[in-house]
Amino acid sequence: MEDAYLNERLAFPATIRNRDSIANVLSNYIPSKGLLLEIASGSGEHGVFFQKSFPSIIWQTSDPEEVHRKSISSWITHYDLSSKMPEPLDIDVEKRPWPITTQLRSLIKGIVCINMIHITPWSCTEAFFEESKTYLNKNHFLLIYGPFFLRDTQASQSNVNFDQSLRMQNPKWGLRYLDRVDEVALKNGFNQEKIIAMPANNLSVIYKLS
Ligand SMILES: C[S@@+](CC[C@H](N)C(=O)[O-])C[C@H]1O[C@@H](n2cnc3c(N)ncnc32)[C@H](O)[C@@H]1O
Repeated sequence: MEDAYLNERLAFPATIRNRDSIANVLSNYIPSKGLLLEIASGSGEHGVFFQKSFPSIIWQTSDPEEVHRKSISSWITHYDLSSKMPEPLDIDVEKRPWPITTQLRSLIKGIVCINMIHITPWSCTEAFFEESKTYLNKNHFLLIYGPFFLRDTQASQSNVNFDQSLRMQNPKWGLRYLDRVDEVALKNGFNQEKIIAMPANNLSVIYKLS
């Protein structure tokens, strides 16, 4: 049985490198109780790490890819977190409304989205903010993390190269200018509260509904 779990557990190397710094940012926003919804959870390694780091809350993962959801479930089992952590939801940000039950909705205190915006079409960023606003109030937070371009700052060569390689894989992908993301956020009632510079030329950006 353990072998099956091992086979399904995916390992995304970047998660080991960035999870501590993201947890450090999250620690300033984690509520005393309630649920955080993670969009685009990928392998699930972040999810189990954050669940273990913040035991007072429930970490709800999600991903539209079945292979990722299986990986997430396997990581949950691996760390014996099944009694605490729900199974991942099948959420594609563009398929709205998201499959969130009334009970779940009542528990949501924040939404977290790590490394999705640059690796999906722009319409996903728009759908992400449009839908997220329906689950949050002004006491809650929304965190995005990833590489972004800043209008008045010279981009690192690694981010320029990464942007080019993404666009070669899919012309609809690529690093976004943060001010364009902010515009979409604002259109949906979210004010940018804080930008936090992260290792490896990434940013964490916190938004709150006004
Ligand atoms: C680069 S991975 C990031 C995974 C994880 N957050 C991490 O940082 O390791 C991008 C993730 O976005 C998910 N994704 C792609 N399209 C999506 C969509 N339309 N809605 C939600 N998630 C999506 C993929 O399945 C994948 O898990």
